Amino acid sequence: MMKPAKKIPRRKPRAVAKGPRAEAKFRDLQKQFKAKVSTLLEINRILNSSLEAKTVRKRAMEAVVKLLSCETGSLYLIDEQRGELYFEVALGERADTIKEIRLKIGEGVAGWVAQTGESALIADTEKDPRWARNFDKKSKFHTRNMVTVPVRSKGKIIGVLQALNKLAGKVFDREDLKLMQSLSDQVAIALDNAFLYEDQRRTFFQTAEALALAIEKRDIYTGGHTKRVRDYSVAIGEEMELTGEEREKLELAAILHDIGKIGIEDRILRKPGKLDDEEFAQMRSHAEQGWEILSHIKSLEGVSPGTRYHHERMDGKGYPLKLTGSQIPLLARIIAVADTWDAMTSDRPYRSALEESRALEELWQNRHKQFAPEAVEAFCRAFKKNKIYTQHRLKGAPVPEPTQAFLTSLLNPHTLEEQTGQKGGR
Ligand SMILES: [Fe+2]
Repeated sequence: MMKPAKKIPRRKPRAVAKGPRAEAKFRDLQKQFKAKVSTLLEINRILNSSLEAKTVRKRAMEAVVKLLSCETGSLYLIDEQRGELYFEVALGERADTIKEIRLKIGEGVAGWVAQTGESALIADTEKDPRWARNFDKKSKFHTRNMVTVPVRSKGKIIGVLQALNKLAGKVFDREDLKLMQSLSDQVAIALDNAFLYEDQRRTFFQTAEALALAIEKRDIYTGGHTKRVRDYSVAIGEEMELTGEEREKLELAAILHDIGKIGIEDRILRKPGKLDDEEFAQMRSHAEQGWEILSHIKSLEGVSPGTRYHHERMDGKGYPLKLTGSQIPLLARIIAVADTWDAMTSDRPYRSALEESRALEELWQNRHKQFAPEAVEAFCRAFKKNKIYTQHRLKGAPVPEPTQAFLTSLLNPHTLEEQTGQKGGR
């Protein structure tokens, strides 16, 4: 005979607080919950709107501060090769100095979280044995309390997310810990996307470089030209404060600027003497040929103008379309300066390289006529910072004193004002 089923005692319903005060508290909690959910959604959108790991990291730290109402946040990433965690802190009033701080896995609270995969909720860092006191000295920050969680991707710890010093004299609670864990999942997805994108970007750049190098190998007179033009262009772009996206396009355009030489016959490309008119016409066609090749690649839409117009001149005497002034795309205006500098300071079979100061004078005298003045001025500023070199004076070698003095005189605000009739900054 079957035993009669055991009767499960009914739980007494919990008394629900009533009254205007309880209702107000309930409404307040509901409001807080809604605000947190909408902040999390907003953070998710912001985190995933960038594919740059650096931006994702910066936004993750901003998200921590916003979501947990705390003084600051840190996102450490794991450097597997060195068995370390690292993060960057901005120093100085204008946060213009970035210092990288590193600690061993297992060291400090962040190191402990990276090692164990567990979270840490600490109300008083001074009383916690895991706390690495010397760390505050390095980062010039006084930590009172914190919540630290691991950042996991596909089951593997890739970083550690930390919130420091709850505002208004409070300490972090379990609610904060839960929020940090949700945020950490979102950060992991955003970082994964960024790493994947960076990997693809690197492969793409390496492919472009290999292609440019293959073409350069055919031209026995231009060894190292592509690399130098790329370095000079990037240096000019930095001085002109181009955005990250613009700089990336500029770098690719500089790598690919002479890609059209693939269609130029060897007898012309490798001719030791000067070219005749017909040969010169064919050589000039490399700008259009390069543009045609690149126009087949949709993602290079913003890059191909650098290839097509890098031989245009401000006065309209260039090629292929005889564009003038601002009709010439910015990337091409920059590459024109970089390309000409390298051509002037490199040996050719029919002439030796120009002296640096002579080549510099040539660029300066021809700004407005041949080159965009803002690109030449940016080039000179980069030069002063030793970012410009030549085929003969290798990267990093000191700029000769007379050239330094010449640069200083060119960039003197009075000289600029006299010569351009313009006042004010650059
Ligand atoms: Fe060219």
